[in-house]
Amino acid sequence: MRRVLFLTGALVLAGCRNDMHQQAKITPYRESTFFADGASARPLPDGTVARGFLNADAALYRGQGPDGKFVEKIPVPLTRELLLRGQERFDIYCSPCHGRTGEGQGMIVQRGFKRPMSYHIERLRAERAGYFFDVMTNGFGQMSSYAAQVPPDDRWAIVAWIRTLQASHNMPREFLRKEDEEQLNSAASESSPSSPSKKSSLPPSSSETK
Ligand code: HEC
Repeated sequence: MRRVLFLTGALVLAGCRNDMHQQAKITPYRESTFFADGASARPLPDGTVARGFLNADAALYRGQGPDGKFVEKIPVPLTRELLLRGQERFDIYCSPCHGRTGEGQGMIVQRGFKRPMSYHIERLRAERAGYFFDVMTNGFGQMSSYAAQVPPDDRWAIVAWIRTLQASHNMPREFLRKEDEEQLNSAASESSPSSPSKKSSLPPSSSETK
């Protein structure tokens, strides 16, 4: 009797083990005879956008104005946090080639990669903010896209930092604080007299260049 009970119990339990392993269901992309096109997955209606991925703001997500041209200015508020974030992201993702000051002398370049142009050339200083955003989004020549590693808000932070680097190399003399100017002057006079090119690190004041 005991044995019979045990066997019945074992059979009942084995029956439970079937769980939902066997049921009518369609696994992803399996073919189907139910729909006329033979596919189990239904095509998306035209214009479907995944929730939260519309990215309709052209300035924010493509660096373009309503006319399709690159925006002149960074379309997010400039804050200290943004700049510090931009500096950090730039140092991680861009400085290996562009160098931490943007001259294009990063370690990968020193090891043989194509040297990018300096951010301090006239053309790139005059370039619109949206252009830098676009280079990061789509790549440029030998440089690949950084869209996967750097999300849009960080791309704007990096643009803000590039602007900061550019300003740091071209600050008109009258914008300098007195102590900065003194420090620069003493650094310039301390530098070796045998290299006259290093003598003055100050750019001419803007009134002199006019
Ligand atoms: C692996 C090296 C490398 C990295 C990393 C890199 N770049 Fe570049 N970048 C280049 C090279 C090389 C060029 C020049 C491409 C060419 O002329 O083919 C370039 C060109 C540029 C230009 C100039 C485009 C022009 O009109 O002259 C900008 C702006 C720029 N990069 C921004 C960035 C920013 C911002 C980052 C970080 C998100 C970055 N790059 C990361 C190698 C790199």
